[in-house]
Amino acid sequence: MLKKIRIGILISGSGTNMDAIISACEEGIINGDVVFAGSDNPEAKGLDKARKKGIPTFVVNYSKIIRKFRESPENFLFPADFDLEDIRIKQSLISHMEQTDKVIRFIETRAIAEARLLDHMKPYPFDLLVLAGFMRNLTPYFIDRVNVTPGHPRIMNIHPALLPAFPGTDGYGETFRYGCKVGGCTVHFIDYGEDSGPIIGQKSFAITETDTLDTIRQKGLALEYQLFPECIQLFAEDRLATVTMTYTDERGNLRQRSIVKIAQIH
Ligand code: GAR
Repeated sequence: MLKKIRIGILISGSGTNMDAIISACEEGIINGDVVFAGSDNPEAKGLDKARKKGIPTFVVNYSKIIRKFRESPENFLFPADFDLEDIRIKQSLISHMEQTDKVIRFIETRAIAEARLLDHMKPYPFDLLVLAGFMRNLTPYFIDRVNVTPGHPRIMNIHPALLPAFPGTDGYGETFRYGCKVGGCTVHFIDYGEDSGPIIGQKSFAITETDTLDTIRQKGLALEYQLFPECIQLFAEDRLATVTMTYTDERGNLRQRSIVKIAQIH
């Protein structure tokens, strides 16, 4: 019997996925326990739900940090181990952009907030960190401090679209507005890009003429509540391996990509 995994959760809003994960742990669908729920948003409704379950919670108020930094950056101390150049190089999310002051400020303010997140998480050792509707991009500063074993990613995210279609913050909205006939959700490991990490699982649903954005969201969320626990349980069973796939692209260039292989149970 494998040991129960310890799951940390980050949320930004209503936390219904977090709820589904907590229930799946209680029902033994996930062999694990939720050890904390953190948020970037003091108003996140999910925080109350976690507290009612006796789960420790904390908030790092990103908006406040970003606002205060803009007003008086001299009042902020960067984390002692903060290396802007290192983050800038790794951050594929913005590496294609010009390194304007705005971009640098984005990295700096996120890293300041992330250092605080890491401080809050320190008392609660965890095996897996789950982003359940956490609406902030994580920089390499944070990712590297959680993914400490090479080849063993341990930050999982759920996204409301069939990636790589429609990354970003409005997956169901973009699916609807594009006129897709199929929608879905994706669970993936986090990498340095935006919703670009190795895919663990996906579920899809049909979109009909009578569907609205609301019904698409409802169909999608119902599948999210199944998919996320399933993927977390695969992690708990130690069945997820990240491997490098090498291929030649249409221009003849050799490329590599990390993908997830799911081990079968014998
Ligand atoms: C979910 O639909 C999730 O896929 C999405 O936010 C919603 C959170 O709902 N996540 C993202 O868009 C991440 N970019 P919840 O707070 O009720 O679980």
